[in-house]
Amino acid sequence: MVEIVAFETLNDSQREQAADILHRALAHMKSAYSPEEAAAEVAKFDEKDRNAFAAVENGNVIGWIGVTFVYDYSWELHPLVVDPNNQKSGIGSALIAHLEDYARQDGVLNLYLATDDDYGGTNLSGIDLFPDPLAKLAAIEPVKGHPFTFYRKLGFSIVGILPDGNGFGQPDIMMAKRI
Ligand SMILES: CC(C)(COP(=O)(O)OP(=O)(O)OC[C@H]1O[C@@H](n2cnc3c(N)ncnc32)[C@H](O)[C@@H]1OP(=O)(O)O)[C@@H](O)C(=O)NCCC(=O)NCCS
Repeated sequence: MVEIVAFETLNDSQREQAADILHRALAHMKSAYSPEEAAAEVAKFDEKDRNAFAAVENGNVIGWIGVTFVYDYSWELHPLVVDPNNQKSGIGSALIAHLEDYARQDGVLNLYLATDDDYGGTNLSGIDLFPDPLAKLAAIEPVKGHPFTFYRKLGFSIVGILPDGNGFGQPDIMMAKRI
């Protein structure tokens, strides 16, 4: 059985599992986390301006979600990673549903996120988005399983794009959901 627990209840070995998932799940991206960067990212969730939740099965972390309390009424979801061996079995959706319940209890109106395309995941990769980035964004299509389609299935809307966020032709796609 999979349960979703607060990050602060994880022991050291479960935190190492969370860092390892962060390292492996984004390995296809230019903005991937090295093992050291992933451990540092996990440690950040001890700070007061953020929180995180882990999906745990038989004592092992199989995915996790983080949130930062950026605005009073809009919180930033980052990161969301599911162990590659456990993807496409509802874990990511369950973590988002859990985070939505948590944020709603605090009167938050929106969750938002930025999802990079620095690996050719959409048709917006490798092109110049200027002079009219929003027109090009309106015609976005997935090319290599980009997760914007996952978020869209869960009710997130595309609300913007940062051209060249990760280098020329490597944008960051902004999404938000009214919860
Ligand atoms: C994206 C991710 C978090 C989704 O979690 P998951 O547990 O695999 O997703 P779920 O099983 O809850 O999937 C829900 C739906 O989204 C679809 N989906 C999941 N990942 C997808 C992807 N990358 N592209 C397209 N569709 C996807 C599923 O097929 C499912 O569709 P269905 O309801 O029609 O069957 C997970 O695949 C992951 O960790 N990917 C690598 C890291 C990453 O890209 N994180 C997001 C960074 S912004």
